[in-house]
Amino acid sequence: MAEKFSHNPNIVSLDLNFAALKYNRKKIKKINPKAKITYIACDYLNLPFKNSAFDCITSYYGFPNMAQSSPRVMQESYRILRRKGLVLDTRILVSDKDEYYNQLKSIATANMNFPNPEIVSVEQLILQIYKKIGFSEFKNEKIGESIGEFNELDIIPMQGQKFKSSVLIIKK
Ligand SMILES: C[S@@+](CC[C@H](N)C(=O)[O-])C[C@H]1O[C@@H](n2cnc3c(N)ncnc32)[C@H](O)[C@@H]1O
Repeated sequence: MAEKFSHNPNIVSLDLNFAALKYNRKKIKKINPKAKITYIACDYLNLPFKNSAFDCITSYYGFPNMAQSSPRVMQESYRILRRKGLVLDTRILVSDKDEYYNQLKSIATANMNFPNPEIVSVEQLILQIYKKIGFSEFKNEKIGESIGEFNELDIIPMQGQKFKSSVLIIKK
């Protein structure tokens, strides 16, 4: 994004973790030194912004990390977006018909104290929540699909499992 924009929009980059913001700032400075970005360490569940303050919200695999509080994250997005504003919510999506989904659900429930793992990665269920909150239009822009490889850092192993990566485009 920092590479592509030609005008100079007001961008806020936020994360709960100050170190993540520091890392992003350094990286973006190299890509586009002219980008005007305000970095704010804050909790997405309780954002320090006025209602209808933003035209667009982007999450690049960020929202699934807050999925235990999923409806609250989507409500905050709705609150700070102007009318007809967009959420671009990039996620890994899996089918609830696949065996991997059952695996994901049982590991997350047993080991991660996760009450509702299905809302992390099943498209219809994620969109249902957006809709209930009041968002009006939904589109899925697929980025790619693949089979998971072994990664020792995976909390829930994905090796051999089918998954898609998509941007869910949601309009207020
Ligand atoms: C997978 S990373 C996002 C990666 C990032 N989009 C990128 O491309 O580098 C998830 C991030 O969510 C942040 N996070 C988790 N809970 C949060 C919350 N409640 N509010 C704000 N950020 C949160 C974590 O600190 C972590 O940096």
